[in-house]
Amino acid sequence: MSVTSKQPQVSQPRGWRRLWKSPSSQARWFWFVISGLLYAALLAWYYYAFKTQDDPEPFADPLRLFGIIAYVLVLITASYSLRRRFMRGLPGKVQNWLWMHTWLGIITILIAFLHENYARITHDYCRNLSCLTETYWATGALFALIFLVISGISGRLLDVWQTRVIAREASSNGVGIERSIEEQLRKLNYTVGRYSAGKSDEFKRACAEALESQGRTIYPDTDLAIHERADWQRVQPTLLEHARLERSLNRQKRARRVIQAWRTLHIFLACLALIIISYHSIMELLTNVLHIIAYPQ
Ligand code: HEM
Repeated sequence: MSVTSKQPQVSQPRGWRRLWKSPSSQARWFWFVISGLLYAALLAWYYYAFKTQDDPEPFADPLRLFGIIAYVLVLITASYSLRRRFMRGLPGKVQNWLWMHTWLGIITILIAFLHENYARITHDYCRNLSCLTETYWATGALFALIFLVISGISGRLLDVWQTRVIAREASSNGVGIERSIEEQLRKLNYTVGRYSAGKSDEFKRACAEALESQGRTIYPDTDLAIHERADWQRVQPTLLEHARLERSLNRQKRARRVIQAWRTLHIFLACLALIIISYHSIMELLTNVLHIIAYPQ
């Protein structure tokens, strides 16, 4: 049976005309400047302390205060999760919070270096694992923060790269992002179904294989009955369009999965780091700042 209804609108690839664009934000510069100024001020104080004190140590100010500031910044950085998941009513766009998270997260590790006076980084290196747990896990907390920030920076770069993959696909496939493609694929499947209705099993198998293999297996005309060849030619643009869109959909899904896998890892590291950093910070506060408990001898 020949299909007489109108041919489907097969969209042509349009090159790089943007259909989909990630929004930009002023918050990027705001938090960059705030974080830069805060770090510059603490750095200046650090050098001033070296000029005016004999041997500044993490348990005396200002290095001790840098530790408290670093801990407060860790908590503020982690509060991004509250805005994103648990308290969506908090003011400000999620994207702006993410810029706060990014820049404060980066200066937090720089301030932690100042707090420990670069110990374990430029001198006084760890020689065995037991150094991690000394002084209420001070070094453990430092390394946990380093891994977390490295994971954050790599993830941010990965996010920019994979978001570009999605944007490029969405802009060039002529349809857009995942949901629109899935909708279009459903329509194309339906059209192929109509072409196949009342045809031989061979014709149906040829269509099914072309759909499943994303256009890589295309039956030669000669394998089909003569009276079905004209329809087989007519269904080709639909099959090719289906294959093209399915490949685009798969690339977008892969990009999303990569971002998702990284996010899971970052959240896992964040939870672990928060536990270690909180233990170190709270114990130091109780012994060294509030003097509620005595320092172990
Ligand atoms: C103090 C250090 C940090 C902590 C405690 C921390 C914690 C977290 C947490 C808990 C989340 C999960 C948010 C959620 O989905 O509920 C998250 C997400 C994320 N973090 Fe961090 N992070 C830190 C540093 C960084 C840094 C330095 C960067 C980048 C330079 C970064 C980039 C990201 C990104 C891109 C996400 C995913 C955002 C999203 O998809 O919504 N993080 N972080």
